[in-house]
Amino acid sequence: MSYYERHIFFCLNKRDNGEACCADHQAQQAFDHCKARVKAERLAGPGKVRVNKAGCLDRCAGGPVAVVYPEGTWYTFVNQDDIDEIVDSHLKQGQVVERLLLPPDVGR
Ligand code: FES
Repeated sequence: MSYYERHIFFCLNKRDNGEACCADHQAQQAFDHCKARVKAERLAGPGKVRVNKAGCLDRCAGGPVAVVYPEGTWYTFVNQDDIDEIVDSHLKQGQVVERLLLPPDVGR
C-alpha cells in the first residue's frame, strides 16, 4: 500500500523567454485552490491525498497541466470550478473527470 492513496502534481513552471509555460495560465492559483480545497474536505494526509508543486512536466502546449497518481491521469483546467471537480470526483472518489482530460498527443 502506498503512503498516499492519491498524489496530484501541478506544473508551476515559469519561463521568461516567451515559450509556453503553465505559470502564464494561473497554475499557481489552481495549485493554491486545490491545496485549500483538499484540506477543507479533510482529504489531506497519509493514506489520503497529497497536493504537490512540480516543475515542467514537458506537456506545456496543454498548460496548465496536472497529473494524478497512481492512475497517471493527466488534466488541463481553466478555473476553480474545474479544480473543484477534480477534487470532488477524482481525488475523493476515484472517478476520472473525462471533460478535463489532456489529449494524449499534447507535448511540449
Ligand atoms: S511548463 Fe508546464 S508542462 Fe511544461
